[in-house]
Amino acid sequence: MRAMVVRRYGPPNVLEVEQLPDPQPKAGEVLIRVKAIGVNFADLLQRMGLYPGVPKPPFVPGLEIAGVIEKVADGLRQTEGERLGPGDAVIALTDCNAYAEWIVVPAKQVYQLPPGMRFEDAAAIAVNYLTAYHSMFVMGNLQPGDRILIHGAAGGVGVAAVQLAHGHKLVTFGTAGPTKQEFLRKIGVDHAIDYHKSDFVEVVRKFAPDGIEMVMDPIGGRSLARSRQCLGPTGRLVVFGLAEAAGTSGRRNLIRALKALVQTPRFHPLKLMSENLTVIGVSMGRLASRGALLRHEMAQIFRMYGEGKIRPVLAKTFPLDQAAAAHQFIHDRKNIGKVILSVR
Ligand SMILES: NC(=O)c1ccc[n+]([C@@H]2O[C@H](COP(=O)([O-])OP(=O)(O)OC[C@H]3O[C@@H](n4cnc5c(N)ncnc54)[C@H](OP(=O)(O)O)[C@@H]3O)[C@@H](O)[C@H]2O)c1
Repeated sequence: MRAMVVRRYGPPNVLEVEQLPDPQPKAGEVLIRVKAIGVNFADLLQRMGLYPGVPKPPFVPGLEIAGVIEKVADGLRQTEGERLGPGDAVIALTDCNAYAEWIVVPAKQVYQLPPGMRFEDAAAIAVNYLTAYHSMFVMGNLQPGDRILIHGAAGGVGVAAVQLAHGHKLVTFGTAGPTKQEFLRKIGVDHAIDYHKSDFVEVVRKFAPDGIEMVMDPIGGRSLARSRQCLGPTGRLVVFGLAEAAGTSGRRNLIRALKALVQTPRFHPLKLMSENLTVIGVSMGRLASRGALLRHEMAQIFRMYGEGKIRPVLAKTFPLDQAAAAHQFIHDRKNIGKVILSVR
């Protein structure tokens, strides 16, 4: 099969097309013919060797795919997931190995698509919408009327969070770069913030002097301390990324990554108690194998998709063998919404 392989940690051009042996499913696994791959910011970090638990090169990166089941391994116990069979259109979450024509995944990480969902839409749903839904409603217990600040609101997770927020009647603050402000207004962000021009803490405090209920912060480093200043009593700070470690060049810069780590604030539990604050950590990668937990959340997301309350926004689709260009596109911060790789 054709696959994109990271030969060494580094810039986007370390991704190379290679022919690898077709994978074979073992007990409890399914073999999927991949149609579309969701490109996540985490893939960029995997390629740079900055993602927790990333394998040593050579490896095939990528965390999510949409495709069609080719084969279900003998001895698959149906309690490990849905009743799956050859020909089913599905999405799957995986630790790695998504940038390929074929993939083998444990059945419990596979979800049947609702009828009529396009593969490209499907590949844009799992990681982004699960991360947002899990943070906001499972861990964060947000209620109608609550106020949320979404960093990177024009990106993959950001758009998902904005759409879910509207479906739950939340008030939204969203940050993005200058070229994405019009888009933020178009998708209905109540308070669009160009963080190059305005201090987001000041904007939030202007409209919510006592502070808001949630900030979703995937930037990390110094940004976390500023995000915390936006929160009022009962505020929830969702920590779910360290984009600050990546930089924009796409080159692996360990000093920059270290700086972002050092600038990450420490939260003292007694201070959290006295301020009535909650810090929520979310790592979808670590939850992907917890099938039952996520299955319920995915069902809610598919229901909202069926009701037309959520629709993935696709920034651009690249062919699989142009994965390096897809990564560069995200490093350049050109994506509005989700980047997809298609497999033909
Ligand atoms: N923990 C989890 O389970 C989980 C799951 C999914 C994603 N994430 C994290 O969530 C973040 C968004 O992921 P995504 O895949 O949806 O990517 P994305 O938002 O589509 O792309 C990244 C965007 O983040 C914004 N950004 C702001 N500050 C940045 C910085 N210092 N460095 C790089 N980008 C910066 C940029 O938008 P502007 O130009 O508008 O600033 C950029 O376009 C990433 O940090 C990712 O690692 C975490």
